[in-house]
Amino acid sequence: MTFSARHLLGIEHLSREDITAILDLAEQYVTLNRQPHKHTDTLAGLTQINMFFENSTRTQASFEIAGKRLGADVMNMAMGASSIKKGETLIDTALTLNAMNPDLLVVRHPHSGAVDLLSEKVKCAVLNAGDGRHEHPTQALLDALTIRRAKGRLHRLSIAICGDIAHSRVARSNIFLLGKMENRLRLIGPKTLMPSGVEHFGVEVFQDMEEGLQDVDVVMMLRLQTERMDGAFIPSKREYYHRWGLNAEKLGHAKPDAIVMHPGPMNRGVEIDGDLADDIHRSVIQEQVEMGVAVRMAAMELLVRARREALQENTLV
Ligand code: NCD
Repeated sequence: MTFSARHLLGIEHLSREDITAILDLAEQYVTLNRQPHKHTDTLAGLTQINMFFENSTRTQASFEIAGKRLGADVMNMAMGASSIKKGETLIDTALTLNAMNPDLLVVRHPHSGAVDLLSEKVKCAVLNAGDGRHEHPTQALLDALTIRRAKGRLHRLSIAICGDIAHSRVARSNIFLLGKMENRLRLIGPKTLMPSGVEHFGVEVFQDMEEGLQDVDVVMMLRLQTERMDGAFIPSKREYYHRWGLNAEKLGHAKPDAIVMHPGPMNRGVEIDGDLADDIHRSVIQEQVEMGVAVRMAAMELLVRARREALQENTLV
């Protein structure tokens, strides 16, 4: 048992062993999730609260299903209608929830660092479901599991992350994870959508899709995250699709068995061609969603187990 983290706030501070522990346990949940009966009592009696301060379809549903399959009592807070709208601070909300003794808090927030801050104020395990443009650890973990299953390994692969890297927490978490696992990373997109300091990331940077996609094993596409943009970063969506949108022709530069990934939500005809996204021979986008539930089940179980062990050790002292 190598997993000892108190919270899952990001990939940056996870070890390779932590990552592998989550992925290995998730494999067991992939099998369970394909059975007609999917219920376990791993988290029976525990309370999981999902707090999404930003819209979410798949991530929130995925965490809810994951918790329910593990037997937890899952509660979704409707943050749009919450006291935050009445001026309560994030910390006050956290303290109020903390007083209800939850065991797991799943939080998505538009501000980078908000989830870390919240984790300092509560007693339970906190899982970051995406904070601003900072991190989205379970997305990177589900992407890693998808890659490992499709390619048979998670190291020494050539992986391209394409599009709006600057505003993407998915890209950041993936750069940390795939870098830790010793893959060759390429970031492809317009200069205006590259994060500052990209030259220190230990990655190769390309503006040209044909050049950047040359012989890669994995192509990861990203949405233009206009909600986090202050002003216009691209000339037009038409122009963007022409230069940076993934279609069969551009994908032809990658390895013949290269897989296509996208965290969703997709904008067909902007960053990706709709037919290519649906091509079951190339696209693993649906597998990503499936792996998401398994990875979240594994992460929640390991956090709870690590806490139980820490508690036992403390009582022994
Ligand atoms: C991503 C997110 O919210 O960061 N979506 C997701 O979690 N599946 C990516 C995005 O919003 O484009």
